[in-house]
Amino acid sequence: MADIDPYAYENLCSLPTREKVTLFNKNDKLFHVIFAEQFDRELLETLCRLATKTRAISKSMDGSNFLRSLLRHKSAMLYFTQPSTRTFLSFVRACQHLGIVYAEVRDPRISSALKGESDIDGIRTFSSYFDLIIMRHHESGLAERIAFMMNDIHRSIPVISGGAGADQHPTQALLDIYTLIRSFEKREGGIDGLHVAMVGDVKRGRTVRSLSKLLTNFNDIKITFVSPDEFKIKDDLRHVLAARGVEFSETDDVADVLESADAIYMTRIQDEYDESPGESRSVDYSKCHLTLEKVQYMKDSAIIMHPLPRRNELDPRIDWDKRAMYWRQERNGMWMRAAIMAYLFNVDAKILEYYQDNYL
Ligand code: ASP
Ligand code: CP
Repeated sequence: MADIDPYAYENLCSLPTREKVTLFNKNDKLFHVIFAEQFDRELLETLCRLATKTRAISKSMDGSNFLRSLLRHKSAMLYFTQPSTRTFLSFVRACQHLGIVYAEVRDPRISSALKGESDIDGIRTFSSYFDLIIMRHHESGLAERIAFMMNDIHRSIPVISGGAGADQHPTQALLDIYTLIRSFEKREGGIDGLHVAMVGDVKRGRTVRSLSKLLTNFNDIKITFVSPDEFKIKDDLRHVLAARGVEFSETDDVADVLESADAIYMTRIQDEYDESPGESRSVDYSKCHLTLEKVQYMKDSAIIMHPLPRRNELDPRIDWDKRAMYWRQERNGMWMRAAIMAYLFNVDAKILEYYQDNYL
């Protein structure tokens, strides 16, 4: 077993992302889920198919018993020290669907962190008792550092990031792609060629960053980022999109995309990342609000997404519009997260076989 040198993880963290992603695989297969960059189109489509089959199987008593028998020997630790409702709960339910035993730590003040234990040591301890760590943390680089540490220790277990600071939220992006694929499955070309508008605090919104990166796997995608000037995307994302040949533009008014967008992806102001008190309050966000009046101009075939939670950027009366997809989107998260865990624990083939035998 190699010695644990926390500085070595810092070195690994400073590698270019394309080099890092191979370190999150084991035997050429996905092992940790940390970055959107780990997913190519083939893997995305595989996970989406698996999510749909898992969902279908779960509907019957026999199917649900079968799913629950798959991973009864596995356990997961949900370590969520940043607030969460749906990522946490959808992982809990996904574990229950697959028979995975789980435990949670949400308040580090009642753990030995209060006695001065480092995050690295505290999280390493989870690997003594569990087979998987699912974690959300305000520090963007912590999940990857933990993943590197796991690669290095005797009892190496997978790490799934459920949100890493303002940087990435890979499983949200997976469920967003799943929602897009399901919503446009009858459209010729599926999601290739879609115009997606990302609206809101696109600078600090980790879901926007991760989803934009996943969209680079598809053909002829056009992205418009809609935000107040203060919350425009950062250069690193501009460079990724340009390098992957994705057409994108920026504006400050959602009115500019209403008629052309196939999907409008709304987000809230991420004021928890304000660097000075009241920073977000001084920004005029009104041109990034979606109202009942504005949705009238959207295409009939378009969809409205939101990772949730929402504030006043999305009028609740839009919930009754058939194009509102966000409540289905959050439910899709449970099936996508079940698919990811089934895939990591190598029971995906059993699910496909069960589906083949019982549903075709
Ligand atoms: N729930 C999402 C996240 O954790 C979006 C948000 O909070 O605005 O990133
Ligand atoms: N979409 C999302 O991550 O929701 P929570 O913050 O409630 O987990």
